[in-house]
Amino acid sequence: MTCTILVGGQWGDEGKGKCITYFCTHDKPDIIVRAGVGPNAGHSVEYNGEKYGLRLTPSGFFNEDARLLIGAGVLVNPDVLKHEMEYLEKYDIKERLSVDSNCAIITDKHMQTDKDSSYLSKKIGTTGSGCGPANADRINRTIDYAKDVDALKDYITDVPKEINEAINEGKDVFIEGSQGFGLSLYYGTYPFVTSKDTCASTAAADVGVGPTKVDDVVVVLKAYITRVGEGPFPTEMTPEEAEKLGLEEYGVVTGRKRRIGLFDKEFAKRSCMINGATQVALTCIDKLYPECYQANKYEDLSQEARDYIEDIEESIGVPITIISTGPDLEDTIDLRDEKLN
Ligand code: GTP
Ligand code: IMP
Ligand code: MG
Repeated sequence: MTCTILVGGQWGDEGKGKCITYFCTHDKPDIIVRAGVGPNAGHSVEYNGEKYGLRLTPSGFFNEDARLLIGAGVLVNPDVLKHEMEYLEKYDIKERLSVDSNCAIITDKHMQTDKDSSYLSKKIGTTGSGCGPANADRINRTIDYAKDVDALKDYITDVPKEINEAINEGKDVFIEGSQGFGLSLYYGTYPFVTSKDTCASTAAADVGVGPTKVDDVVVVLKAYITRVGEGPFPTEMTPEEAEKLGLEEYGVVTGRKRRIGLFDKEFAKRSCMINGATQVALTCIDKLYPECYQANKYEDLSQEARDYIEDIEESIGVPITIISTGPDLEDTIDLRDEKLN
């Protein structure tokens, strides 16, 4: 009987896709609902050796009994959604996925504006997915909503009604955020941010759940930091230093090389504060400590890795309940029983 929100605590790409998959296959929530900006996101999910890149479909789709929803705050590109429904056909996505009637719709015009504007594409370094121009049209009240679009007519629902009824019936609801704290329009490194707030309160608003209904907020932090696009990054290292540490990464949506930096404790602490974190999931510990790859017990981590994790936990003041030691679902240490009870 819980309503959980999961959000990114840095600049996106913290490994939310992997953590969401873990929570949704392990805890089996009845409803998994996508919040966040829109198809600018690229969540990676790995399961049984297969790898999926997702932009709109909730990352928890492996849980085949769950209802999959997209909240009204999320921008929908019907072509991206259709492609993902086909790509994930064997998981019966079409039968389980619905979008809120009030999701705003991204068109080719929004994507073109995003790419043609040198301010957006070059100065800010946007993903080119049309999210910024679409949110601008939404605020100007000229954009179409999902209920106006023929391509989505079979997939429309009232997301707040479904979720709140489920919560009242004692069911479990899992809300997936996208992007990360540093990309928040309100609290991030403006103007080098995305086109809306990316914190937990907005994720709740995105799907129509009031703050009093939320039990848990999981903030996902990577053991080091990555950032794509432009903007300040105080702990950034040079590409040569990153390469030496074996920390090269490329974006799921854009294929761009990610900038790499050291973990920033002050930044993480502020992110946990503004998100109201009750738990932290720490990912990619194996990238810093390769001897920890695929460990699934805390005792199997090296002393160095444990010291690193305990130092972070003490600085942020929030329990680190999930430690991810590889991209696959199985590569997870789950400390919730001992830390939360
Ligand atoms: P956005 O919604 O775009 O912010 O993405 P995300 O938070 O879902 O992260 P994304 O999948 O873009 O990037 C994380 C990358 O790290 C992916 O390639 C994952 O497969 C991988 N990954 C996640 N957790 C771990 C981990 O613990 N160890 C290793 N080695 N890789 C991981
Ligand atoms: P936009 O959201 O496409 O407008 O891009 C604005 C900024 O947010 C750029 O720096 C993007 O690289 C960044 N961004 C947007 N979505 C993601 C994401 O899912 N992961 C990482 N960075 C993102
Ligand atoms: Mg990503």
